[in-house]
Amino acid sequence: MGKRNVPRYPDDDGGGSGCCGVLGWCCCILVLIVAAIAGAAAYAFFIYKPKAPSYSVSNMSVSQFDFNSNDLTLYTKLVSTVRAENPNDVIGISYGDGSHTVVSYRGTPLCSGHLPTFFQGHKNVTVMEISMEGRHGFGSGLQSALEESEKEGNVPLDVFVSVPVSLRFGTLDIREVKVNVHCALVVDSISPKKKPTIKSATYQANVEF
Ligand SMILES: *[C@@H]1O[C@H](CO)[C@@H](O)[C@H](O)[C@H]1NC(C)=O
Ligand SMILES: *[C@@H]1O[C@H](CO)[C@@H](O)[C@H](O)[C@H]1NC(C)=O
Repeated sequence: MGKRNVPRYPDDDGGGSGCCGVLGWCCCILVLIVAAIAGAAAYAFFIYKPKAPSYSVSNMSVSQFDFNSNDLTLYTKLVSTVRAENPNDVIGISYGDGSHTVVSYRGTPLCSGHLPTFFQGHKNVTVMEISMEGRHGFGSGLQSALEESEKEGNVPLDVFVSVPVSLRFGTLDIREVKVNVHCALVVDSISPKKKPTIKSATYQANVEF
């Protein structure tokens, strides 16, 4: 009943330009929206001056560290406590999927894991426990080097963290960037028999845009 028959004009060639007009408007609005978002982001950056978050390894416990002398592999399982601080007043940090953490000894990876995905509000300190495990081939040269380090009570470990994060201003998420942290740790021992003491730690971080 309410359906109307719209008259059709088979040789109407004005439809093309009308369609272009609508498309043009859509483009225009899209450009305006993108410009507004970019402007807001630039404004937020200018006003709130984002500060880099900081990370530190505060605790480590080794639950397994087993050499297999048959196939020269080493199975490592440990839990590392990482303290992440967001020093910003207004900016929240959202930790995304696809993070990766690796602990290596003199260039040989021992174990790996990943960070939890979570949102960290402004002026927040979050302490997270990261479980890492792995089995890696390990030559006898490295085994004796490790025994030597262990005897001296200075075991150098490299902890690499790579995590995609996005900064959030209010409800606005800024483009995701990748934060890479390298922590050069020295522990007194790495064995399940004794809890390792962290003797020193130095940190380097960079951001991949
Ligand atoms: C370190 O971790 C162990 C085991 O997870 C825990 O018992 C200990 O209280 C932690 N130490 C600190 C300083 O957080
Ligand atoms: C910091 O953020 C974490 C994760 O959102 C939350 O569990 C924790 O309670 C917050 N801490 C403070 C002091 O607000």
